[in-house]
Amino acid sequence: MTKQSIILGIESSCDETACAIIRQDGEILANIISSQASIHASHGGVVPEVAAREHLSAMRPVITKALKQSGLSFDKIDGVAATGGPGLIGGVLVGTVTAKAIASASNLPYYAVNHLEGHALTPRFTHNLDFPYLLLLVSGGHTQLLNIRGLGKYERYGTTLDDAAGEAFDKAAKILGLGYPGGPAIEEAAKSGNPTAIKLPIPRQRYHDCHFSFSGLKTALANAASTHPEPLPVCDFAASMQSAISACLVNRSAIAMEAFISSYKHREQPSFVVAGGVAANTQIREDLQNLASSLNFTMVLPPLEFCTDNAAMIAWVGMEYHQIGMNTELDFAPRPRWPLDNNATPPPGRGVRQ
Ligand code: KG4
Ligand code: ZN
Repeated sequence: MTKQSIILGIESSCDETACAIIRQDGEILANIISSQASIHASHGGVVPEVAAREHLSAMRPVITKALKQSGLSFDKIDGVAATGGPGLIGGVLVGTVTAKAIASASNLPYYAVNHLEGHALTPRFTHNLDFPYLLLLVSGGHTQLLNIRGLGKYERYGTTLDDAAGEAFDKAAKILGLGYPGGPAIEEAAKSGNPTAIKLPIPRQRYHDCHFSFSGLKTALANAASTHPEPLPVCDFAASMQSAISACLVNRSAIAMEAFISSYKHREQPSFVVAGGVAANTQIREDLQNLASSLNFTMVLPPLEFCTDNAAMIAWVGMEYHQIGMNTELDFAPRPRWPLDNNATPPPGRGVRQ
């Protein structure tokens, strides 16, 4: 049997410092994550300057632990991959410089990885999924619908005009005094709430496109909370917000499914992948599963540890490019903005996320 390649990957674009080592067949030899969530919790969100400093101190121990877990040393590694963007520039710089240093010291190819491509290709190693497939990426930083046609071939159907879905959960939790990160707190409170108690708008429902908007929903929640008599029925507010966010995700995904089907008319049971931290939400999973079943899609949910930010997905993208011999030059400059689809039609409005 020919030797399988091994890639080391580094992720540092937000508040997780992570290192993973992956083999060509998708076997994960090490997967280490050091989260800064508790450090940022008191601020109600990630503070970029603090995050960059934390990455600097966590990076070396995280890499050492990954090597130890895999039982490998640098001389057994065939390439080094690191998130090169999009994300908070301080953290991306720390990961990029580290990966370049390892690559030059060990004479290895270097791969600058688009963080979104990491999320997009995750089901390739968790489920051995073939191209093409439809992806809904719902995290604290991104809300996008993409047609994953092939390696490096990504067609963006839609993105958010303002906040990401996870951000909407986090801001709602802040308004309701439920702490950070907001998603799990809202989900817990929603369990004993009535989702129809508070009337909230479902943004962009009138538009037949795949773009999202969540900031109006957040404002509507804040207004409803400030005008509601005390004591605030926090569980009803949480359940109503969760239900409104889920409805947005479902109606935009339905339009994306139509677009996907029309591109691949003869394809049976296409796959619909849901990734990102918000995919942890049971209500959202159920609603998306019902939609997928009704339109004859197979829903694919990577295990949660690979849905949220991790370095295995970054190592895997490095692996895919390693296999076709497409490494990155060492003069690569980190990209705080790095769209997956350069030809995407810009959505209406301003402040659009990539
Ligand atoms: O993918 P992720 O771990 O990190 C990035 O943003 O890249 O996603 C974190 C986001 C946060 O906004 C968090 O509130 C949200 O995912 N989240 C949830 C749940 N668990 C995490 N949102 C809704 N329900 C959950 N159970
Ligand atoms: Zn992410």
